[in-house]
Amino acid sequence: MVEVRMRQVIKRFGPVETIHGVDLDVEDKEFVVFVGPSGCGKSTLLRLVAGLEDITAGDVFIGGDKVNDLPPAKRGVAMVFQSYALYPHMTVFENMAFGLKLAKTPKPDIERRVRAAAEILQITELLDRKPKEMSGGQRQRVAIGRAIVREPSVFLFDEPLSNLDAKLRVQMRIELAKLHTDLNATMIYVTHDQVEAMTLADKIVVLRDGYVEQVGSPLDLYRSPNNTFVAGFIGSPSMNFLESTVKGLENGSAQVVLPGGGEIKVNCETGGLNAGDKVTFGARPEHLMESGVGDGQIPGDVFVVEQLGGESYLYVQTENKDMVVVQAHGESKVKRGDRINIGLPANSVHLFNQDGRAVTRERTGHPVPA
Ligand SMILES: Nc1ncnc2c1ncn2[C@@H]1O[C@H](COP(=O)(O)OP(=O)(O)OP(=O)(O)O)[C@@H](O)[C@H]1O
Ligand SMILES: [Mg+2]
Repeated sequence: MVEVRMRQVIKRFGPVETIHGVDLDVEDKEFVVFVGPSGCGKSTLLRLVAGLEDITAGDVFIGGDKVNDLPPAKRGVAMVFQSYALYPHMTVFENMAFGLKLAKTPKPDIERRVRAAAEILQITELLDRKPKEMSGGQRQRVAIGRAIVREPSVFLFDEPLSNLDAKLRVQMRIELAKLHTDLNATMIYVTHDQVEAMTLADKIVVLRDGYVEQVGSPLDLYRSPNNTFVAGFIGSPSMNFLESTVKGLENGSAQVVLPGGGEIKVNCETGGLNAGDKVTFGARPEHLMESGVGDGQIPGDVFVVEQLGGESYLYVQTENKDMVVVQAHGESKVKRGDRINIGLPANSVHLFNQDGRAVTRERTGHPVPA
């Protein structure tokens, strides 16, 4: 059992505190993704697990053992970085074998482990090459191979795919998911790419400014974001936010006045709300309808149509000059300059109070067909 636990972990660089008392559980064999904007503390948190940074206060446990004072090599972790950090003068084989050699692993063992890792990563035919004779994707495989041969109980990845082009990223992403299944190991993966987070994670940890904003499965976060930050970060294109007003409250629902004067009744926790309150209304592009059908409408003018083939994105300016993105079918006939009535399905929209906290309960994700 190799779970990773953080308890009230604080990190200061000099006088500046960058991680503010983080509690976190990574379960055995779980694939956990740290996601958040640049500078939020993803790498720092990962480096604290790896032992590459000292924690200022709190505790880190790996497999039940407190590792605060253990050096990186004794923690049973292996880290893969964005920069592949390969030795240029060594062959692929030598690069992958280097750590094992240092640890005085017997030669036949080294040979077996390197060949097995190369097999998994499909780089066996590259074992005699030098890094400069390989593509970025191949180099990243070698960097991952170097981690695999150490047979760590926890893999730590810091944006390992960021230097690859878009197509290769998608391919490597799928291979990483497969690798997780094949190796059956605990993995912590840092990225600022929410699509990577959604597709790879068993559990996503959303960070902001050194605080954990929310932890949950990809669909939990998609359906029930705690606040506007998580709501805007998870999902692509981002959720639309519109400043709206509570007109009235009933037991378990709020009547909300939308920009443009339309109204919609939204099921929510009404406890902290009052009639007249400003609220943020949230709706994902994929839940909006160009046709105007739905439980509420917002009129607006289409100013850009992005046709991706399978789907189209309509950029619509409302009467209040808000911009709303609507995901439409690829065959949509809507053109730039058209006036449309955006349809809102009440069961998949979100409401946030003035502090940005969600007041809606779990959403269904997608509108239930009428
Ligand atoms: N060695 C250091 N000395 C001082 N401040 C640091 C150090 N390392 C990181 N920081 C600060 O800690 C904060 C978190 O940095 P970190 O590298 O963890 O962010 P990140 O989420 O990984 O960002 P990115 O997506 O850009 O990689 C930042 O404000 C950064 O400037
Ligand atoms: Mg980083």
